[in-house]
Amino acid sequence: MRFILAVLALGLLWNTGHVSAHTSHPSAGRTDSAVLTDDPGKESVQRNLAPETTLRTDQSSPDFQLHISEVLTEHTHNRLVHFPVALSIFALILAVWSKRNPAILPAVQLLVISAAIIALAAVFTGNGQSDVFAGDPKKWVVDIHRLLGIVSAILLWVWTVFLLWKPLRRFYLIIAILTVLCIIATGFYGGVISHG
Ligand code: HEM
Repeated sequence: MRFILAVLALGLLWNTGHVSAHTSHPSAGRTDSAVLTDDPGKESVQRNLAPETTLRTDQSSPDFQLHISEVLTEHTHNRLVHFPVALSIFALILAVWSKRNPAILPAVQLLVISAAIIALAAVFTGNGQSDVFAGDPKKWVVDIHRLLGIVSAILLWVWTVFLLWKPLRRFYLIIAILTVLCIIATGFYGGVISHG
């Protein structure tokens, strides 16, 4: 019971931080309202709003409404992307270890295939979320991030082939290192888009 409560509390804490980290970028609150700040980087918030959107300048308004279905379907990309990053780093660590202990190779395969599938979903959701950055000062960061993201997803599938096809298997560490470097760079630019 205490364990369940601890997990719930952790989930709540994570959720609070996550939501607050995404309330200021262009796609946040697109359908409701936006809060204008003095930060010149936030000018784009205005540009990306629907014409009927009302802009609030007072930040003290207490009328926050929770729309569960919106919360669950918004920012899918931001939720998904941590998986390919974490899974591929973990897979690289196990891949190095598997050179000494081949018995753990199936675990590496499972991690890499999972990362590759979620990375594909990340490419689609990322493209869907990138429209709001048209004309935004950060558009060039989005373009670099998109390119790196697509290359990362391709590399994850190449890594999968290297792991599953025996003639290529002895080279899988090289492709593993390349993939993880690319995915870390992708995550870095993604973080700049969301939080930079
Ligand atoms: C394997 C592929 C990808 C990975 C690992 C990845 C990773 C990330 C990460 C870590 C973030 C920051 C999320 C956060 O802090 O909450 C992000 C944000 C973002 N990514 Fe990706 N990304 C990938 C592919 C793509 C692609 C192909 C696009 C297409 C343009 C894209 C567009 C975006 C956008 C627009 C954001 C900002 C979302 C927002 O906060 O509004 N991503 N990505």
